[in-house]
Amino acid sequence: MEFSHRPVLLKETLAALKLRPGGTYIDATVGGGGHARAILEAIQPGGTLIGIDRDGEALEAARKHLKDFDGSFVPVRDNFANLKPVSLSLGLAEVDGILFDLGVSSYQLDNPRRGFTYMHDAPLDMRMDQGEGVSAADLVNSLPERELARIIKSYGEERWARRIARFVASHSGRIESTGELVDLIKKAIPARARREGGHPARRTFQAIRIAVNQELENIGPALTDGAELLAPGGRLAVITFHSLEDRLVKRALARLQGGCTCPPGMPACGCDGQGIMQVITRKPVLPSPQEVEKNNRARSAKLRIAEKRQVLKERVGE
Ligand SMILES: C[S@@+](CC[C@H](N)C(=O)[O-])C[C@H]1O[C@@H](n2cnc3c(N)ncnc32)[C@H](O)[C@@H]1O
Repeated sequence: MEFSHRPVLLKETLAALKLRPGGTYIDATVGGGGHARAILEAIQPGGTLIGIDRDGEALEAARKHLKDFDGSFVPVRDNFANLKPVSLSLGLAEVDGILFDLGVSSYQLDNPRRGFTYMHDAPLDMRMDQGEGVSAADLVNSLPERELARIIKSYGEERWARRIARFVASHSGRIESTGELVDLIKKAIPARARREGGHPARRTFQAIRIAVNQELENIGPALTDGAELLAPGGRLAVITFHSLEDRLVKRALARLQGGCTCPPGMPACGCDGQGIMQVITRKPVLPSPQEVEKNNRARSAKLRIAEKRQVLKERVGE
C-alpha cells in the first residue's frame, strides 16, 4: 500500500521551528516524512534531521521518501518517550528545534491491515508498534466492563460508553475483528443517537486506539525532555488533533514556562518561578479554511509553539 499522508499546518510548522541551514532538528513523529521533507529542504546545506517513529512501516516509508537526503536524515525506530536516550546515543547534547505531530497518520488509519479503522473489516490490532504491547483485541477482551467504559468515556468522550462496554463485555466468545466491534457498538447505541454526528464507532475506536498505544501518558514527559534538549532560542512545535491531547500539551508548556509564585503584595518578584520555556502561542495556530477544504483531517488540528529561554532571569538580589 502507498504511504499517503498530507502534512498538516505545514507552512505554519516550518515558520514555528525557525529553521536555519546547518541546524540540527528532531521530528519526533516522522510518519511518512511529509513535514520532514520540507524541514530537510529548509536546513540545507549542512543541516541534520533525526526522524523518530515507533511504527516500522512508517519509518520505512520515510526512508524511501527522503532517500535523496542521505546523510542529513537519520531515521530512528523508537518511542518518543525515549527522546533523551535516543539523542544521547547519537551524541547530541543540544538541538535547534523539535516537532511533535501527534496521533496516527492517514496511512495507519487508511490501511485496513492495521486494524485502526471502522471502515473495513480487519484484525482488531491498532498498535502503532506491532512489535510490542497489547493489541486492541487483547484489550477489549480482557478489560473489566467498568474499566472499558471509563476508557471509552474519557478518551472517546462517548456518551454511550457504559452501554457499549456492557455489550462488549457480555458478548460470547472473543472479539477478533474491527467488524465485530463495530456491530456491537451499533447495537449498543440507540437508533436515534446513531444517526447523529458521524460514524457511530468513531469515538470508541479513538478511545481504544489511545489506550492501546498509551498515547496520552507519553506527551507530558516527552515535552519536558524535549525542552531540556533544546539549545537556547530553540523551538518546540506541537500539533494535536483532539481536545484531550491539546489540553495536555497546553498544560505541559505552561508548566515549562513556569510563573511567579511570590505571595500577593510583594514589591518585586523574588522567586525563581521562571521556567525554561517561553510560550509563543497563547492561542493555538489553526489551519486556514483553504487547508481544511483540501484536507479534512486538518479540521481539528492545533499547533502550539514554545521557545527555550535565552538566559534565565537572575534571581532578585543575586
Ligand atoms: C500524524 S503522524 C505524523 C505524520 C508526519 N508528520 C508526516 O508529515 O508524514 C504521527 C506519527 O507519529 C507516530 N507516533 C505516535 N506516537 C508516537 C510515539 N510515542 N513515539 C514515536 N512515534 C509515535 C505514529 O506512528 C505516526 O506515524
